Amino acid sequence: MSDLLTIRSLSVHYRRRDGDVKAVRSVSLDVRAGETLGLAGESGCGKSTLAMAIPRLLPQPPAEYAGGKIVFEGRDLISLSSEELRQIRGAGIGVVFQDPFSALNPVLTVGEQIKEAFSAHVRPCPPGTVEDLLSRVRLPDAVRIARGYPHQLSGGQRQRAVIALAIALGPRLLIADEPTTALDVTLQGGILDLLDGLKKEMGLGVLLVSHNIGLLSERADRLAVMYAGEIVEVGPAGQVLAGAFHPYTRGLLASLPRLSAGRGKLPTLAGQPPDLRNPPEGCAFRARCPRAIPACGVSPSLGAKEGGRSVACHNP
Ligand SMILES: Nc1ncnc2c1ncn2[C@@H]1O[C@H](COP(=O)(O)OP(=O)(O)O)[C@@H](O)[C@H]1O
Ligand code: SF4
Ligand SMILES: [Mg+2]
Repeated sequence: MSDLLTIRSLSVHYRRRDGDVKAVRSVSLDVRAGETLGLAGESGCGKSTLAMAIPRLLPQPPAEYAGGKIVFEGRDLISLSSEELRQIRGAGIGVVFQDPFSALNPVLTVGEQIKEAFSAHVRPCPPGTVEDLLSRVRLPDAVRIARGYPHQLSGGQRQRAVIALAIALGPRLLIADEPTTALDVTLQGGILDLLDGLKKEMGLGVLLVSHNIGLLSERADRLAVMYAGEIVEVGPAGQVLAGAFHPYTRGLLASLPRLSAGRGKLPTLAGQPPDLRNPPEGCAFRARCPRAIPACGVSPSLGAKEGGRSVACHNP
């Protein structure tokens, strides 16, 4: 159990006419204060659904919470009223999305948006707060940026402004879903350095979501790997990199040139994740797995290993 965020047996489905999409299937996961938990997995594996389910940002319908708990600082977010959730969003949990443009209001200056975040929570915004926040996200010339509209900023500046908004009310958990995927590659490191710095300065727990396990391997304290709506492996990032248990994690790592160099034996991933309207019986990775055995016809559960690691696999 973590004092910050504890998710237990969470399932989230999307209701669709052609069948429900079981995007998150009985996920249990913790994020601790002061750590970055990296959430990895190919596109379509349910990472964004899980990340956005935490602050209850998924529109219902089509999304539906089909079971489980999301306990943030001791309160189950699933049972809260919309007013209570509104208070927790921003003040307790900050969110950074992939596309900084859509996260900002085009008709308000950056400074006005930060002030609005305070007034939405009926909190005073003391003089100097806007400039202070903008310099905390390493935006030079904070006064000019505060007066600027989103379209007047570069992509990197916009994402820094979004991060300033996300931390404005002093949250304890920051959820960043592919925060650098829409940015030029030269800007990505700076944004990740910034998130890392804020984690340390503010003691934040950070849930960093990416399809790129290479990026997470450099930034996360612990790694969680998601496949077909399920968590298949969790552990300290260094240990997972040095010796992943799950064949899927190994497949993801094998696609990284630097990490696979000299190992040669990691099999690369062929095929596609399954259709989550109709997840396969047994282990969801079986059709792609080089280590499948007859026992894999029964779905493996996430079992604890030594060193704070866990894996869901019959033949790790
Ligand atoms: N609004 C939605 N309605 C129906 N299905 C959705 C919706 N959003 C996502 N999905 C489906 O849920 C699954 C998980 O998607 P997502 O959480 O975006 O995965 P990831 O972030 O890992 O790429 C996919 O099959 C996707 O098509
Ligand atoms: S449970 Fe079986 S099929 Fe699934 S990953 Fe492990 S070995 Fe492969
Ligand atoms: Mg996503």
